[in-house]
Amino acid sequence: MTEIRGERAIIKIDRLAFGGSGIGNHEGLVVFVPLACPGDLVSVEFTKKKKSFAEARILEVLEESPHRQEPPCKHFGNCGGCDLQHIQYPSQLEFKKQALESLLARQLKFELPKIEIIGSPKEFHYRNRIQLNQQKGRFGYFEKGRKSFTAIENCLIAREEINKTLTLLESQFKRFEIYFDGQDTHVSPTEYGGSEGSFIQVNPELNEILIKRLIQSIEINESKLDNSEGLFVELYSGDANFTLPLLERFSFNGYSIELNQKNVERAREKLNPINGFKVMKGSAEDINKVHPGDRVKHMLVDPPRDGLSQTVVDSVMAIRPQCLYYISCHPATLVRDLKILKDQYDLLEISAFDMFPQTGHLEVFCSLKLKTP
Ligand SMILES: C[S@@+](CC[C@H](N)C(=O)[O-])C[C@H]1O[C@@H](n2cnc3c(N)ncnc32)[C@H](O)[C@@H]1O
Repeated sequence: MTEIRGERAIIKIDRLAFGGSGIGNHEGLVVFVPLACPGDLVSVEFTKKKKSFAEARILEVLEESPHRQEPPCKHFGNCGGCDLQHIQYPSQLEFKKQALESLLARQLKFELPKIEIIGSPKEFHYRNRIQLNQQKGRFGYFEKGRKSFTAIENCLIAREEINKTLTLLESQFKRFEIYFDGQDTHVSPTEYGGSEGSFIQVNPELNEILIKRLIQSIEINESKLDNSEGLFVELYSGDANFTLPLLERFSFNGYSIELNQKNVERAREKLNPINGFKVMKGSAEDINKVHPGDRVKHMLVDPPRDGLSQTVVDSVMAIRPQCLYYISCHPATLVRDLKILKDQYDLLEISAFDMFPQTGHLEVFCSLKLKTP
């Protein structure tokens, strides 16, 4: 990518990119403009240019989009956290939905089910976990790319309990996290492990809604499938966030696979009284080695941002679960995997969950069904 500081243009912003930049077109180039809002007319300076796209920064907003609002946080744009506080929340949802629809329509050349987006019950103060840095006794975040440090006394997307802890904090840790478990807050250093590497959904209210939707989809599929036996298998199962409510609702036999030791321990503790279900510590890539060969009725996958590796996709296609539920936190890798899975699976449902309001991220739930069982 070439650095081309100095070159300027006037651009109409017409959509939002995953990651949170506004997008416009200029002389055949797709231009990504951070902190722009669809509907804005902006004067920009290019910062990077490639053959088909460029990046630019706003010099001036010439005409303001009606979707704009005054960002409520004074650190917005500097701290490296939120991308979208300048956009009203209902419009954030609409723009994220449009971004997903257009990505899927461009990449998957078949008729798609109608996409629904489910907003977060809390637009602010939803995060139950934040990671902070300490510099000269002050706590804060680094700008994207870790260039400049912004000290904060309060974070608008963190839960109030976390902010309260932050005001009283006297931590000596260089890098640490504050986590609110629903009752208490916990401060732990991340440079010595902390809970780093282990995974916890950060938006508990919307997580509950996602779990209900997952149960609903399984219920619908169960009512249509024959009554014969089949396993429930879960890959990337974390600390049993989905496993526990699913096993409480359905009497499934089966197993889950999770790589992180702490998550596996927490999952085993939670699932202890449930018989007939095994939590395995290992890599999803090894599923072919551990799979007992039985028929799989329902398989749930919730991979990290990288999506499914080719080995995992090949294994899923070989095991042929009758119903496949894919939860993704990165639409680009989801669509890459759906392109392969579509040879064997019909896509029944796509629902987007706005787990991370004020940011350019989106969680997507897909329900798929084997074409020829
Ligand atoms: C997006 S999280 C989902 C966790 C869980 N479903 C939840 O809702 O909390 C992805 C999980 O996959 C685990 N993981 C990452 N790579 C893995 C792999 N190759 N095999 C198995 N698990 C993996 C991570 O430790 C993490 O817990």
